[in-house]
Formats: sequence, C-alpha cells, structure tokens
Amino acid sequence: MPHTSTSIITIERFIMEQERLHPEATGELSNLLYDLCLAAKIISRHVRRAGLTDILGSAGAVNVSGDLQQKLDLFAHDAVQNAVQHTGRVCIAVSEEDEEPMLCPPASRRGKYVILYDPLDGSTNIDVNVSIGTIFSIHRRVTARKGEPSLADCLQVGRKQVAAGYILYGSSTMLVYTTGQGVHGFTLDPTIGEFLLSHPDIRTPETGKYYSVNESNWNRWTPAVQRAVAAFKNGDGGGRMQAKNARYIGSLVADIHRNLISGGIFLYPADTRSSEGKLRLLYEAAPLALVVEQAGGAATDGRRPILDLVPKSLHQRTPLFIGSKADVAFASEILSTESVPA
Ligand code: AHG
Ligand code: MN
Ligand code: MN
Repeated sequence: MPHTSTSIITIERFIMEQERLHPEATGELSNLLYDLCLAAKIISRHVRRAGLTDILGSAGAVNVSGDLQQKLDLFAHDAVQNAVQHTGRVCIAVSEEDEEPMLCPPASRRGKYVILYDPLDGSTNIDVNVSIGTIFSIHRRVTARKGEPSLADCLQVGRKQVAAGYILYGSSTMLVYTTGQGVHGFTLDPTIGEFLLSHPDIRTPETGKYYSVNESNWNRWTPAVQRAVAAFKNGDGGGRMQAKNARYIGSLVADIHRNLISGGIFLYPADTRSSEGKLRLLYEAAPLALVVEQAGGAATDGRRPILDLVPKSLHQRTPLFIGSKADVAFASEILSTESVPA
C-alpha cells in the first residue's frame, strides 16, 4: 500500500514545526493561531449555509464606519471573539464591529497578545454569493502585564505585528498567514474539518497581470491617481508599464488573494468623498501589508509603507496601494509628483 501520510501537512503540524524553529517560543502564539482556525471553521460552516438559513439580510444596526451591519458580520464577530477571549492568550481585542476595544476576561488570565480583526470583509457580497473573508492582525502587548491593557496596546505600528493573515471563504475556504517567515496558505478540507497546507511559501510576482480598483470613483480621484490607473489600464506608452487586465471583486480579501497568487496591484486611493480612502489601517491594510510584503510584494499609502504608519485611532482609514512590487513602485512614483495635501 502506498504510504502518503507525510505528504499531507495539517496546519497544526505546520505551526508546530515552525514553533520548533524558535526554542524560546512558549506555544501561546501557535495556540492563538489554532483558536483562529476554529473561528474560521465555524464561520466557514455558517457561510456555506448562508443561502439555506435565515442569516441573510441586515441586522438593522449601523457599525462604527457607518456601514449597515449584516447578520453574518455579527456572527463572525462573535465567532472570533468567543474563540480568542477565554483562552488566556489574548488581553484585548479590536473588531471592526465594535467602537471600543474589548478587554478579555478574567483579569488574572489575560494573555500577552492583542488581536485586531475585520470579522467579515466584503459584506456587501454576502447576499449575492460572492467571496468574502476575515482579516486578523496580532501584536504583542506593550503595556505592563499587571495593569489593564490599553489603547497603546492596540495602536501599534504595523511593522510590529507578530502574525497576520486572512481567511477567504471562496470556492474553497483558505487560511493564509505569516509570522514573518514567509506566507503560507492552507485549504480547508471540509470532509475532515482540517486546514491542509496547499500553498507553502507563497511568492507574489514582481509585476502583476491585474489592476484592481473601483473605477466608478474616477472623477473623485486626484490627477496623479488618474494617471496611475490610466497607465495600468492602457500602458504608459514608454514601455515601462504594459497594459494590464482588470479584476475587481469588491471583497478586499478576495482581491488581495487573487493578486497575491497571480500578481497585480490593488488600489483604494483617497478621493473627494473620503479624504483618507475607505479601508481601515489596523485590521485591513496593516495585516494585508505584512502578508504581501512577506510574499515579496509592497504596500503603501501612496507615499509611505503601510507598515510604517503610526496609528492614531482604532478605526482610522488609509489610502492603500498594495501588490506586486514593481507595480506599487510605479504608482508611488507617479503619486510623488503630486504635492501633499495641507
Ligand atoms: P467591509 O465589508 O469589511 O466593510 O469591507 C468592505 C471593503 C472591502 O472589502 C472592499 O475592498 C471595499 O470595501 C470595496 O469598496 P467599494 O464598494 O467602494 O469598491
Ligand atoms: Mn473589510
Ligand atoms: Mn467587515
């Protein structure tokens, strides 16, 4: 009988093998990643049944960013929160769906990690059966262990993330994460309920074949952003930028994942309606920037690397240019010709 067992690597085995490379590791981060796997499986099961159960439609409330909350947003928020808050690995959590950070109970068992997450990304796509995702960012606590965790633990620069990743509920469910040693992707085998290593050490192409942007915002962009997008669409005429194909799903996780694998640039610039762009720094841009940088790509706000931005508030937004390195550099060069708004 052929012996194939070692060719199947579960996420548990992979995380454990990674942990062994760090003799100083206590296993807490590994366990926190397993907690997120559990949340991923629970959310995935719910998403897969979305058309069958009474979970579609709006819950009627408006979240801190002014979007109408979908029921699945709340379900995913609770799933992540329940998976991480009682295990003694996390001390404070920030969710897109909650204005204030949530302290983990009880005080005596609060852990050394901070988690920031977008429980359900791409929520306008829920009702139309299009891919959606979850994004997470993990930091180490910086305030003293004996006191209460505070905003300072949550407002850390992206470069300090100890882990980041996303779960994509697409044609299959995938979990993609980095702890700063490359980017690894796992696909959920629903028949056994395990994430299996399917994309080890993902490297994103240096130049991409896609540009991804909501072009309906064209008239609200600055001339420099218009020039950059026009060059991605038509080529720059000088031979440096070839015309690209367009792909835009409107689910950040799905758009980023496709470009990570196939190469491309995703842009969500500032515009006259949203002076800071639309996407949130702490739980959308920063974790995805770490993933993309770790895969050999780049992410900026048009001028500075996303991972160097110092956050001032929990739900702060940022313009985002992310993807293949050469494409992001090309956009940044065009944007640098524009004066910084006062
Ligand atoms: P969320 O569903 O978490 O609020 O995020 C929505 C975001 C993101 O997923 C996507 O890239 C972007 O909104 C799409 O915005 P537009 O509809 O303006 O293109
Ligand atoms: Mn989102
Ligand atoms: Mn969301």
